[in-house]
Amino acid sequence: MKYMLHRLSAAGRLLPAATVAAVAVCACVSAQAGTHAPGITPQIVGGQRVPQGQLPFVAQLRVFDEDEQIFDHVCGGALISPDVVLTAAHCIDEDELEAMSIVLNRADQRETGQGVERGIADDGDGKPMVFLHPAYDATTFAYDIALIVLDQPVLEINPVLLPSPGADTLERPGTVVTVAGWGNMLAGPGQGVFPNALQSVSVPVVSPWECQFAYGGTFQPGPMLCAGVRGRDSCQGDSGGPLFTAVPGTSRFIQMGVVSWGESCAKQGKPGVYARLSDPVIARFIEQVTGM
Ligand code: ARG
Repeated sequence: MKYMLHRLSAAGRLLPAATVAAVAVCACVSAQAGTHAPGITPQIVGGQRVPQGQLPFVAQLRVFDEDEQIFDHVCGGALISPDVVLTAAHCIDEDELEAMSIVLNRADQRETGQGVERGIADDGDGKPMVFLHPAYDATTFAYDIALIVLDQPVLEINPVLLPSPGADTLERPGTVVTVAGWGNMLAGPGQGVFPNALQSVSVPVVSPWECQFAYGGTFQPGPMLCAGVRGRDSCQGDSGGPLFTAVPGTSRFIQMGVVSWGESCAKQGKPGVYARLSDPVIARFIEQVTGM
């Protein structure tokens, strides 16, 4: 094994995470960028294209494909401090980290001159600094978050803000929030259309009761949050990306969730499920890693 992931134990100490199974459940879509079936409007399951510069904190995780000599889209993410990107734990595949780079403020994947690009910091022993939440469960997707430390800080972009631990202000059911990503724009089973341009869609927060109704015990109200309505949702490839809202009267955004899972996409009664950032156990982990 070339790399060991590191993660924090509950006590906040660094532990080699040999036991962390690297999973890439539905994160790794190879981009059929820019193609779409005839007669289909290319909208991210109900959303629209994000203009360059509008959501600079949104990150794209990608890996270099040696065979094809191109970058493959892996997942979304968000800049939460000058040198830390928040993504989903299920986006992290240990074997991929060496070839991974993180791009910020580049709405169109093809515009290689735009935005900033970073690698992953190493811990001094040649190991990439990627931290999975210690309670992350690859079977249930509980605590589906990971933090990636960048090899150089990004000073020209305002990081996204995070909710106060234990607060529910942004989670009132019916509150309309936004999710952004380069994921599948088609809701239908087995269909895949992956855009070059970042897409965003507004989705209502769904109460934990309704989400329990949708998913039964699979939904865990602490570390998970639901949002979505028929026709509007995140989808495969959006994982790791932010669920967020603009702070009125400012140019800042607050992120309340990380795209995690869902049954199909944009289906009535099956909202998207997000890792819930106001959860104290998640918030504490983020504070420990970022030193915030
Ligand atoms: N697991 C998916 C990914 O890796 C995200 C699925 C989100 N699904 C949804 N219906 N919101 O990209």
